[in-house]
Amino acid sequence: MRISLCCTHTKAEPWLEGLHAALPLGTVVDDWVAGAPPADYAVVWAPPQAFVDEQAGGRSSRLKAMLNIGAGVDALMKLRIPPQVQVVRLDDAGMSVQMAEYVCHALIRHFREFDGYEADVGQGKWSYRKPRSRTDFPVGVMGLGVLGERVAKAVAQFDFPVMGWSRSPKTVEGVRCFTGESQFDDFLQATKVLVCLLPLTADTQDIMRLDTLARLQPGGYVINVARGGHLVEEDLIMLIDRGHLAGATLDVFTTEPLPAGHPFWTHPKITITPHTSARTLRDETIAQIAGKIMALERGQAVAGLVDPMRGY
Ligand code: NAP
Ligand code: GLV
Repeated sequence: MRISLCCTHTKAEPWLEGLHAALPLGTVVDDWVAGAPPADYAVVWAPPQAFVDEQAGGRSSRLKAMLNIGAGVDALMKLRIPPQVQVVRLDDAGMSVQMAEYVCHALIRHFREFDGYEADVGQGKWSYRKPRSRTDFPVGVMGLGVLGERVAKAVAQFDFPVMGWSRSPKTVEGVRCFTGESQFDDFLQATKVLVCLLPLTADTQDIMRLDTLARLQPGGYVINVARGGHLVEEDLIMLIDRGHLAGATLDVFTTEPLPAGHPFWTHPKITITPHTSARTLRDETIAQIAGKIMALERGQAVAGLVDPMRGY
């Protein structure tokens, strides 16, 4: 069996070694270069179209699946991938706990006004702020998949009212679930702190924009940990500056790295991090991908199979 690694912005060596150790003896694992021999499986992150054309489209191609080393497959869905090649996304592999930490941290930092306390302490002030009621901070999580469900449950542990929104109906303990476009308005109107954990698809591009964000409760707050393409950045700034929204914590951006001079760098009500809310953990990811390759070899179903029609 031959595995081709094609991961942009990723140091290949540890992945090659890890995959080699995790797969059966005799498996060849190569870092892809143009003209490489045909592979049976590809381990990828944002590969170029040239890779797909060569490994999945050529006459000698035998590629069965492309296994993504991240949860989001939006970069892959922009490529032309022949239908016989399955696309498999990462399925948690240590990401959901990181996402739960990140979102709970951002929510609690905002709710408990820790930035305000830090500023006070910086000025030598010993001052109290009026306690706020968590019932006034209903949290709405868009996307109740592998990551969103874990986040919604973690937030519920802190006794915030929690709502979730997904494409298909869900039942999640402690979470009031809304489904589909018909219930989107009700979901937004019931939400003060909006968390985005949707995949980026044609349906969800720009989902957080002037008219949708304006429907959040006054004093709303946005936590975007999914993709920059979900948010119309200037609309967020407009609603914060008008006072309808209290602020935002953003981990993902339309352009990454965030360009120098972008208003998010210095906006006093916006906290940013460099796309780090849930990192790919190499050991867990290699173990999961090796397990999936072996399951596919045995003809078994694997979790995280992407439906190209849905785009996630
Ligand atoms: P997932 O398991 O596929 O879950 C996606 C959820 O979104 C599902 O509940 C799905 O509904 C819902 N959804 C999709 N399209 C929808 C629509 N049009 N309307 C309403 N709901 C819709 O994905 P995941 O593993 O939780 O990951 C979510 C995203 O997080 C990834 O796609 C990626 O972009 C992002 N991410 C970011 C980072 C980071 O570090 N910032 C790290 C990892 C992932 P159904 O359940 O009905 O299908
Ligand atoms: C990271 O953003 C991922 O999609 O895994």
